[in-house]
Amino acid sequence: MSNSGNYEAVAADIKKLLHQPEYDDGSAGPVLVRLAWHSAGTYDAETDTGGSNGAGMRYEAEGGDPANAGLQHARTFLEPVKEKHPWLTYADLWTLAGIIAIKEMDGPTIPWKPGRTDYVDDSKLPPRGRLPDGAQGADHVRFIFYRMGFNDQEIVALSGAHNLGRTHKDRSGFHGPWVPNPTRFSNQYFRLMVELEWKPKTLDNGVKQFVHYDEDLDEELMMLPSDLALIQDKEFAPWVKKYAADKELFYRDFSAAFAKLVELGIKRDESGKIVNADNVKGGYIS
Ligand code: HEM
Repeated sequence: MSNSGNYEAVAADIKKLLHQPEYDDGSAGPVLVRLAWHSAGTYDAETDTGGSNGAGMRYEAEGGDPANAGLQHARTFLEPVKEKHPWLTYADLWTLAGIIAIKEMDGPTIPWKPGRTDYVDDSKLPPRGRLPDGAQGADHVRFIFYRMGFNDQEIVALSGAHNLGRTHKDRSGFHGPWVPNPTRFSNQYFRLMVELEWKPKTLDNGVKQFVHYDEDLDEELMMLPSDLALIQDKEFAPWVKKYAADKELFYRDFSAAFAKLVELGIKRDESGKIVNADNVKGGYIS
């Protein structure tokens, strides 16, 4: 058991579990990033509900949402860290793991603060249906992210996370990675979106996506309809082009937007202590 509040020890243990030779492309990193994002991406600014506080995916109502299919792998990877550091809340662990994974995969440093708490029952979970649908276009993407309080530039920056990982037929129905090296963070997703020709393809399960056959890889790279909406939309497209051309700018903007994402719905006092945590176990860790 580790000392309460020793986040350095937690971070070290998260780093150690990223290498998973038997899993996907050999890294737990991408699915940990998706766990962090889905834990926070339920936020609704108008009703001030959802968000990363609470770790609601431990309950069937949220964890069993088809939009969260596959994220049990991420939660299982992290379970030994929780067992070793029982003072840490799941809500903090999930958000921190995403941030550590991004950094370890060559991504930007993202500021992170602890203090999230875990719901003790499922009475405050956000309703299903708050996460984006990859089959849809720019209007839907705006509807989802404006609800959280993001603007067009932040939407495009956050979407750059699709430089990581892959889509799975048995999870979302889509198939394949976005880039040739999906365990390394970069701005390649934007570069490929701009540079390559993307052809529509209907998979044998009826799901429609866009593909580009990569000869070196002998594999098809993919884009979701919601990804290509970014280059088709006249407000989003300039940001796609900027991030494709300027990796530093993308890293800076991604870091700011992801830090904002994992703080959605969390109110802190001047010392950083979370002040709106109720119906929860854990509390602030000093
Ligand atoms: C994977 C949709 C935004 C990070 C996926 C998958 C879908 C999807 C369908 C594949 C799931 C699977 O089959 O395993 C979307 C849509 C978005 C969006 C429609 C917005 C319009 C984001 C954001 C982030 C993110 C904002 C993080 C900042 C990831 C990562 C994966 C992923 C890292 C790979 C997971 C893995 O390899 O297991 N996304 N996503 N996505 N998404 Fe998104």
